[in-house]
Amino acid sequence: MKRRDLLLMGLGAGSMAAAIAAGRTLRPARSYNVPPDRTFVASGTQSLGDRARAKGLFYGSEVSIARLRDDTEYASSIAEECTAIVPGYEWKWRFIRPDPQSFDFEKCDDMMDFATQHNLQVRGHTLVWYQSLPDWFEDYVTPANAESVLARHIETVAGRYAGKIYSWDVVNEAIEPYSNRADLFRKEPWLDLLGTDYVELAFRMAHEADPNALLTYNDYRLDFDTSYEDRRREGVMRLLERLTSRNVPIHAVGLQAHLNAHEFETFNPEKLRSFLADIASMGLKIMITEMDVIDQKLPADIATRDRVVASVYEDYLSVVLDEPAVAGVMTWGLSDRYTWLANEKAREDGLAVRPLPLDSEFQRKPAWHAIARAFDNAPPR
Ligand code: XIL
Repeated sequence: MKRRDLLLMGLGAGSMAAAIAAGRTLRPARSYNVPPDRTFVASGTQSLGDRARAKGLFYGSEVSIARLRDDTEYASSIAEECTAIVPGYEWKWRFIRPDPQSFDFEKCDDMMDFATQHNLQVRGHTLVWYQSLPDWFEDYVTPANAESVLARHIETVAGRYAGKIYSWDVVNEAIEPYSNRADLFRKEPWLDLLGTDYVELAFRMAHEADPNALLTYNDYRLDFDTSYEDRRREGVMRLLERLTSRNVPIHAVGLQAHLNAHEFETFNPEKLRSFLADIASMGLKIMITEMDVIDQKLPADIATRDRVVASVYEDYLSVVLDEPAVAGVMTWGLSDRYTWLANEKAREDGLAVRPLPLDSEFQRKPAWHAIARAFDNAPPR
């Protein structure tokens, strides 16, 4: 394997040396042939949401509110398959804060109506994130006013929908080991403005604004057995310990689970199980918040690709759903018609990516069956 590939996998020179010293041989890239006798056919035709609900879990999707309005096929398949939704971008600062004084809730109000109409739980995403900040942010926010800007945002946004939100992603992606900080916090605007207490502050503000919502810390790349992900898990655990020891109102951890299919050889079920058990032992719930399976580097053949993607969904979710603290699963989109990965992880051969349960015509793919089976086989809550 080339060094570049190893770096892409998050295995830098240091971890390579460590792996060799530990006597572990780095396996060559996985052969992408899922055994031919492995099938992905779920029994029955019930929706993913119904199957999840039967086990006391939720299943939901990221949505674009604008598309819910414009694409009726999309809206009806969301209503059919899901018990929960989360807006992909229309609740982020950039989209609801046109200027430092105002808020624009038009789309979010619409989405709440859609959710009520179809009896869907709503996850709020996200009150604090270093990305998707408005253009005015940098000039306007200073160490002197940062706390009041944050308080006003959280009070207004979480306050407006108080009692109607199942769970809020209060802080998103605060950990980044490449920062080289001892506490593994990401270097970002909120950290510069308020120091490490910004996380704690945000949770306290959110709890005051909406005491009923499950308050979640959400982050990515916590899934695989690489030294980079070890560091990320370590950073998250330290953050959780810090918050719980100070009685900060945090109730859940979100694993985004944007999984690279071409790295799935580094999936180690035992490691993930023990990470989930560690979170559960702190009295916290766990949610899979943004799952999709990245097929960017898989072979072009669609049948092969769909089977690999399905196997990643089933293998990952069957481990995750064994943990009783897991409350549910969201995928970051439902149909390949609309996926952020089309831009974010486009394929070199120009073929459309296929990371989600339904194809671009809203037909159920092997990935849909894999998720259905994982719910069917999950122990009830
Ligand atoms: C992505 C959205 O899907 C895009 O539409 C947007 O432009 C950028 O953000 N982790 C997160 C999500 O927590 O907010 C990101 O969503 C995907 C990665």
